[in-house]
Amino acid sequence: MRFHTRKWVKPEDLNPNGTLFGGRLLEWIDEEAALYSIIQLENQKTVTKFMSEIDFRSSAEQGDIIEIGIEVIKFGHASLTLKCEVRNKMTRKTIITVDRIVMVSLDEHGKAKAHGKTEVEYVKDRLND
Ligand SMILES: CC(C)(COP(=O)(O)OP(=O)(O)OC[C@H]1O[C@@H](n2cnc3c(N)ncnc32)[C@H](O)[C@@H]1OP(=O)(O)O)[C@@H](O)C(=O)NCCC(=O)NCCS
Repeated sequence: MRFHTRKWVKPEDLNPNGTLFGGRLLEWIDEEAALYSIIQLENQKTVTKFMSEIDFRSSAEQGDIIEIGIEVIKFGHASLTLKCEVRNKMTRKTIITVDRIVMVSLDEHGKAKAHGKTEVEYVKDRLND
């Protein structure tokens, strides 16, 4: 799994318990999955279809740095299935794992559209085309 993104937990990210608000973390995960999928599938119209069970295993406090990791599970026809793990850099604990996030590539009418991709591509390889 590659951890592309780090976030700094700020006062506006906290719940009334003074720890990282779950909704904020889900927003960050969804955005990370969308960015990753849009780049991989080379289609800006790529949306979240499904997320498997959410289990918050530990938390983060103000000032902590967290990192978000994404791994490809499967390239489908119109879909891309990802796995996600978020870790707290300070406590070194896993905050959450999401075993399956299904993103779907859409056409101009908002219908599922085959993306034609079968493997992870890296920017450096695309630049050499
Ligand atoms: C995404 C959307 C177009 C898919 O429509 P659909 O009728 O399910 O389309 P399909 O049946 O052709 O399925 C498309 C792909 O999604 C997968 N899929 C559909 N429902 C799924 C589910 N519940 N869980 C996992 N994968 C699912 C299918 O397996 C298929 O994958 P493949 O093409 O790689 O084989 C439609 O559900 C939609 O617009 N949803 C709203 C998405 C959205 O707006 N998200 C933002 C958050 S609100």
